Amino acid sequence: MLIGILKEIKVAENRVSMTPAGVEAMALHKHDVLVEKNAGAGSGFTDEAYQKAGARLVETAEEIYARADMVMHVKEPQPSEYALIRENQIIFTYLHLAADKKLTQALIKTRSVNIAYETIQKADRSLPLLIPMSEIAGRMAVQEGAKYLEMPQGGRGILLGGVPGVVPGVVLILGGGIVGINAAKIACGLGARVYLLDTNLDRLRYLSEVMPSNCFTVMANLANLRALLKEADLVIGAVLIPGAKAPKLITRSMLKDIKAGTVLVDVAIDQGGCFETSRPTTHTQPTFEVDGIIHYCVANMPGAVPKTSTIALTNATLPYALAIAEKGWQAACRESHEIGLGVNVVQGQITCKGVADAFGMPYVPIDSLLN
Ligand SMILES: NC(=O)c1ccc[n+]([C@@H]2O[C@H](COP(=O)([O-])OP(=O)(O)OC[C@H]3O[C@@H](n4cnc5c(N)ncnc54)[C@H](O)[C@@H]3O)[C@@H](O)[C@H]2O)c1
Repeated sequence: MLIGILKEIKVAENRVSMTPAGVEAMALHKHDVLVEKNAGAGSGFTDEAYQKAGARLVETAEEIYARADMVMHVKEPQPSEYALIRENQIIFTYLHLAADKKLTQALIKTRSVNIAYETIQKADRSLPLLIPMSEIAGRMAVQEGAKYLEMPQGGRGILLGGVPGVVPGVVLILGGGIVGINAAKIACGLGARVYLLDTNLDRLRYLSEVMPSNCFTVMANLANLRALLKEADLVIGAVLIPGAKAPKLITRSMLKDIKAGTVLVDVAIDQGGCFETSRPTTHTQPTFEVDGIIHYCVANMPGAVPKTSTIALTNATLPYALAIAEKGWQAACRESHEIGLGVNVVQGQITCKGVADAFGMPYVPIDSLLN
């Protein structure tokens, strides 16, 4: 198959959809790869590295869209690209269509085959192409929290790990899923006292087994949250209720019980946020203050570490890209239900129920389109 790797054009997006190592694996599987010039620059990969890996460089996105059987992106196609997409061309990227009617309609019109990273789902319901970004956001949450706890940044002036003779800081993590466990791992490594809250008792049992002794698992309920908030130096919001907005676990009135200069990092901001006082921020101005409490609410945290994010993302996407390229999208979907769940819009029809429901449009099960 002829695979095209585009340069990202969405504002402040420095990731790229495939590393030179991934391109080399594609070439070893006898696929031809076109890479747009400078595609890897933001992630630290030179054009020469892609050429060495077996790719051919092309000057423009137009050329990639005109020639490639499968086009890979990180972010969704931008309006300037809609007219370039061809019938039956495979577009493999993050799409988030349920939040974007314009893009959905544009993809329907092109009659292309659109496979979304975020809806590929394994039998255990995990989302393998979202997990790497949650891992990064969880680990970053502690790093960012620690930074904004420093007094010159407006924080309480606390070193999370403490030092001999001085008690460590207290980190409260709401939600013990992928973000939560990754945040806890880093906070524990720093030496902080970590409380990890979740509503799922089985998950708490697991966390209690695997986490070090400075991590305490706690059932998430209002009484426990109220008590622990009084002690916290850093609070990380990492809850997720699939398909729903995040619950507001900390209300504005609860802020008065939190110590001044405490940092709240709301990782769940991309689902509306789990603190009532949260609003989305950007990497240029990541924080704001409400009632003396620092809020960090960046909706695309992995964007700040593109060199790590690109490699983590392509580690996860490569096996799927290879399967689709090897078999073609129809056979890949027939043989793998998880890839089938990734297909959102095919040849003018919506094949993802969530997207169809979001816009009150007809839903066509993918199985009915596989011959
Ligand atoms: N801001 C960013 O850049 C960024 C990046 C990646 C992920 N995220 C977001 O982070 C959030 C967490 O993602 P994840 O991958 O860890 O999800 P996950 O499904 O792995 O974990 C969510 C956890 O929250 C728990 N939970 C649900 N309701 C709860 C409640 N009321 N109290 C305590 N725990 C509760 C669940 O039991 C689950 O263990 C999501 O909203 C995700 O979209 C944001």
